[in-house]
Formats: sequence, C-alpha cells, structure tokens
Amino acid sequence: MKKILLFILPILIIIGAAFTIFGTIQVRFEEEKLIDDVQRKAKSIAESMELSVKHVLENNDLKNANYLVEKFQTRERLQGCVIYDKEGKVFAITSRFLDWKEKEKPYLREVLQTKEPRGEIEQFKEYTVYSYVLPIVGDNNSVIGLVEVIHDTSYVFTRLAELWRRISSTLIILVVLIVLISMFLHKQIFVLPVLRLTEWFKHFQKGETDANHPIKEKGELGKLASEVEQVALSLRVARKTMSDVASERLQKEELWTETKLRDLINAKLGDNALFVVSNREPFMHVMDEATGTVSCIRPASGVVTAIHPILCACGGTWISHGGGNADKKFVNSKDKLGVPPEDNRYILKRVWLSKEEEDGYYYGFSNEGLWPLCHNTHTRPIFREEDWLMYKKVNQKFADSVLEELPAQSPFIFIQDYHFTLLGEMIKEKRPDAKIALFWHIPWPTPEAFQICPYHKEILEGMLGCDLIGFHVKNHCNNFLDTANRLLESRVDTEKFSVVRSGKETFVRAFPISINGHSDQGGSGAEQQQQIEKLRQEFNLQGMIVGVGVDRIDYTKGIVERILAIDRFLEKNPQYRKKFVFVQLAAPSRTHIKRYHDLIAEIDELVEKKNWKHMDGNWKPILYLKRHFSADEIAPYYAMADLCIVSSLHDGMNLVAKEYVAEKRDCQGILILSQFTGAAREFTDAILVNPYSIEEFADSIRQAIEMPAEEKQKRMRNMRKIVSENNVYRWAANIITDLTALKKV
Ligand code: G6P
Repeated sequence: MKKILLFILPILIIIGAAFTIFGTIQVRFEEEKLIDDVQRKAKSIAESMELSVKHVLENNDLKNANYLVEKFQTRERLQGCVIYDKEGKVFAITSRFLDWKEKEKPYLREVLQTKEPRGEIEQFKEYTVYSYVLPIVGDNNSVIGLVEVIHDTSYVFTRLAELWRRISSTLIILVVLIVLISMFLHKQIFVLPVLRLTEWFKHFQKGETDANHPIKEKGELGKLASEVEQVALSLRVARKTMSDVASERLQKEELWTETKLRDLINAKLGDNALFVVSNREPFMHVMDEATGTVSCIRPASGVVTAIHPILCACGGTWISHGGGNADKKFVNSKDKLGVPPEDNRYILKRVWLSKEEEDGYYYGFSNEGLWPLCHNTHTRPIFREEDWLMYKKVNQKFADSVLEELPAQSPFIFIQDYHFTLLGEMIKEKRPDAKIALFWHIPWPTPEAFQICPYHKEILEGMLGCDLIGFHVKNHCNNFLDTANRLLESRVDTEKFSVVRSGKETFVRAFPISINGHSDQGGSGAEQQQQIEKLRQEFNLQGMIVGVGVDRIDYTKGIVERILAIDRFLEKNPQYRKKFVFVQLAAPSRTHIKRYHDLIAEIDELVEKKNWKHMDGNWKPILYLKRHFSADEIAPYYAMADLCIVSSLHDGMNLVAKEYVAEKRDCQGILILSQFTGAAREFTDAILVNPYSIEEFADSIRQAIEMPAEEKQKRMRNMRKIVSENNVYRWAANIITDLTALKKV
C-alpha cells in the first residue's frame, strides 16, 4: 500500500495544485462578473429614478419621495433606496432600511462635491451590500440632492461558495477514481503475479512436484521462476547423491560422529529436513539495559547442550520461544536467523509470546505445575486453570508455527520436553503423515503422583499423538506405560513397549541422552593450562584441592544439601581446612517464580553462614559465583577441578556429570554423583551418594579426595569411554532409526 501511495501521491499533488489554480481563476472571474452585474443593476435603478427624485426634491414633496423609496421594497435582492437633500441629509428612506441612517457615510460629501456617481461594496452590520450614489443635478447645474441605491450582494457569495463546492467535489471524485484505478492496475500488474510466484515458491520449497504446481507466469517473472527451478533441481539431485553416498559410508564407520549422524539423517530422511521444537532457544540475544550492549548467549539448559550439536551436524530448523529482550532485532521477516551466529549451520525460528502467555504457559503450568510434579523433591505442584488455558493456547501457537514450515511429504518433527505435551496431537490433526517423536528430558513419575495433575487425561492424550516418546531410563518408560494403562482407556503392549489408543499406536523407548563426547571447549592443552593458572591466581586457589559444581539454581539440583555436606566434611576433617575450596558456578533461573526466588536467597545466606563459620585468614571453603557462564568459561573450571559434585535430588539424566568427564582429558579427577540422577545408571564408576544423607555425602568428599590416583584414573577412563561411545550422535541416531523403522498396528 505504501508503495502505491508513493506512486500516486505526486500525481495527486499535481492534480490538486492544477485544480486549485484553475478554481481560483474561475471564482475570481465569476466574482467580477457578478459584482459587475450588481453594479449595472444598481446604476440603472438609480438612473431610472433620477427625474422623479429631481422632481420631489425641487418641490420638497415628501409624500412622493416616500412613495418612490418604498416602491423598491418589493424588488428582489434590492435592500433599499435613500434620497438625500443637497446637504447630504436623509430626505426619504425605505422603511425596512431605517438603520442605514446610523451608518457613517463620508462618501456622500465626496459625491456632492465632485458631482460624480460612486459605486462601492459597503459593510453594514453583518451584511455586505453594494451602494450606488447618484448626484441629482438641478436646472442651474448645482447638486440639489442625492439618490442612493443599496443592493444586496449576499447571493454573489452564495454563488461563489457553490462554485467552490462544485470544483472540490469534482476534485474528490477524480482523486478517488485515480486511487481506485491505480490500485486495480497495481494489483493486476504487480501483486497478483508476485503472489502466484510466492505460492509457487512455497510449494516448490516444500518439495511438491512441478506437475502439480506449474509456473504460470510469463515475461520477466516467468524467467526468474524458471531460473529458481533449475537451481532447485540441481539441489535435489545433489541431495539424492549425498543420501546414497551417506548410506554406503554409514556401513563402514564404528564410533558415532557428527559425520556419521549426518550420513544417517541423509540416508533415512532424504530430502526431509529435521524440525526440532523446544521452549528454550539455543541462542539468545540479550541486551544489557544499563549499557545498551547486546550479547548472544547460550542458555544453561540440558536440552540446548544436547540438541545443538545434532543440528550443527545435520542442519534443519529449530523452533523455540524468542525469550531474549533483543531477540526481535536479529530475525528476518519470517522470524528466522542462521545460527551459530559466526558459522550458520542451521535455522533458528523464534516464536514470540506475550507476557501473559509466558506467565501462564512457561512460569505457571510448565514450571510451577509439571516440573515439581515430575521431580520427586517434595515441592508442591501448583495447577491453575488460567495457566492451563494459556499452556494450551501456546502449544497451539507453536503447532501453527511448525505447520507453516513443513515440507510436502512425511516431515520429521522432534519435540523436546514437558512444555509441549499437546503439540504432537495438534500437529497430527493437520498433518497425519508427519513422523513425530517427543523426548521427555525430566523424570516421569508414578501414576499415583501423575494423577495429581487435574489435566492428566488431556496431557496423556496429547502425548500419544506422537509416534515415539523417549525417556532417559527404562524406569521412566515403565512409569509412563503404567500411567497410560491406569489413567487412560488404552491398551499397553508390554512386548512392543507401546500404547494403543483409538487405533493409534505410540512407542515408548529409553534413550539415555549425552553430550558430543569430546571436549571442544577451552582451547588447546597449553591454552587451557594458562586459563587454569589465571583462575588459580584470581581466586587464591594455588596449591588447593579444588571441587566444582555447575548448576542452574534449581531446588532439584541439591545445592543446599551440597553446602551442608561440605560444611560437615570440614567439621569431620579439619585437616582439610585451608586445603580445600569448592567452586560453585550457579546460573540464576526462573527467577519470577517465588520458590526459585526464595531458593536464591536461601543459598546466598547459607554460603555466607558456612564461609563465616570456617573462614581462616584469606581462605574460605566455598567460592560462590552466581551468574550465567558460557561453555567456554566453564571448561577450565572442569579441567582444574580435582572433583566434581552433582547432587541432584532427582534428575532425568544430568549432563554436567558427562561434561565434567569429557573435559577431564588427563583423567585426574573424580565425580561424586547423586544416585537419583539418570547418569548414575551409566556412571557406576562415580562415587554414588544419597544427597539427603549429609553424613554419607560428607564422607564421599573425603573418599574422593583420598582415593589413590590410579583408582581415580581407572574410573575416569571407564567413564570417558562411556561418554565417547554413547554420545549424543548415537542418541539422536537411535531415535531417528527407531522412528523411521516403526511398524504400527
Ligand atoms: C531442564 C529442562 C529443559 C530446560 C532447562 C533449563 O533441563 O529439561 O527443558 O530448558 O531445564 O530451564 P529453563 O526453564 O531455563 O529453560
């Protein structure tokens, strides 16, 4: 519309200006004509009266004089007539015009002296009139009086206004016609062909055949479309070749690598790109309100840590909530951007949520409801009806956003976590051909615990819209099957590990998630040594035994229990005072929720209290660094630490445990790991603890410190082998292989 205006506006300005000039000239001309007409009429009336007035003045005949002036009463548009004597005093005046007497009339004297008639426009009260004064000359050639004819002029102005009105309406009609015709032509010549072309591009991009959607455009646009068609054709052929080569290479490689996963995806999904949906985005643009500087951060999230390397390996589109306060500045017209910013490997599509939506769906239902429901940490879940309604609304919003992107045939959609339990069903409604997997990154509770949720039925139904649901460990799969069996009318097949409901089958499998298996942060060995040295100096850690913890500040992470255990360890083992420092990196999280807000305060206070208790000179046992740390920043802390503590009270997997192991290239370290994490099933070589038992926990710290170096190395080597073999590429490959191989009822 703006463009049409730019085009039409100059034309309209020219027409407007032409009409104004032309109109002004015409009105002037008309005005002169009308005034001239009035003048002629007044003059002829005055002249027609001349003899009679001369007669009445010579005879001082007031009666006839009155008769003469009243005679004009009846004349149309004539206001009045006045007869003056030779002194310029009123002799007779039209009765309806008596007030005229009061008016100052300096011109009478002038006419008496010059003996010349005078005609002018005069203002009288609120009227504009034309006055014509004729001197009456006696027989002796002297002026014996005057006659004044006063003529109405209001009709002149009415006529002129009418003329202006006609000119303006013609102009308006002309403008409207020009605008309408221009819009029509613009639509026919530009908009419709471009719309047809865009539609054609969309079908083409989705991989629909040219036969179903041939290019209709001729001329220049047709040429452009045909060029695009050639490029797309070459791309398709290249993809097919890649997919064949990929299948061959796949047979040969042993360890799962980025390349092997790429090959698998090419072989299994062919033309179809991968679509990932999660609440948390992998890259967030955040503006520091104080300085106005924008930085692009990687949020602290297990989902992000795991999925990012997969999309880097095989490309695709990741759809998630644009939660950064500067996110909108970095997307294109379709809300997309290439990431990582320095080396675009895949597409990030950001979905925008209003404050109310984020409150209800994310803070409320997801994190005050489902999160505590699924974690066995004795935090009471809160379910509010308005949060649930928002949660449904936002799931639908994401479903619509995903549907916009899907290619024509059998798209593959990989949904992450508890934020999107309804998404699978919503997408299947419109695209039953889509293959959908949902991975649940947190634990799944028992049926007794799950049925606390007032919306458990809808949630289960929504999830069963997916073809495959993944959990980290078998136990969570069993809990899910039990829940579906107990709370829903469905058939659970324990042989196939699936749930059948309304003739639709959903498979349930355990896929223990992991990381990319090798350390790619922190630079080379020498560089990392320098970074470690710097940290030791900065925090007075020279010669200290260093422990590390890396967590989002969340009540499930057992941070409070960890501090209590360190305190107890120092109480029981005073010989480690001034020899041991525990560095806790803590990223504030979900801070608008009271439980999290309170936890932050509780930890602050506890750290301060315990540091005060044990402090000796410059030394204090806990170095609490509360801010967001990037993966690059965390790596040297892992590498420096003699031990790492992961003390979650309940955790789906916990990738910090795996990151620490991957970073320990020299195998000089030991992991203290909560038995309530998914990772504890794989890392039997860690020192497993019950974080609720502070005594046992404190002793495990001493055990970790005093464990012989060879033993530590042996255990670390075993764990490193697990991480490199069962890496995240294998995890993704297993899910994709299972999903593409599923044979349904
Ligand atoms: C857990 C969840 C993730 C989530 C992460 C961080 O790991 O499974 O889905 O992204 O916590 O939480 P946040 O609410 O900050 O995304």
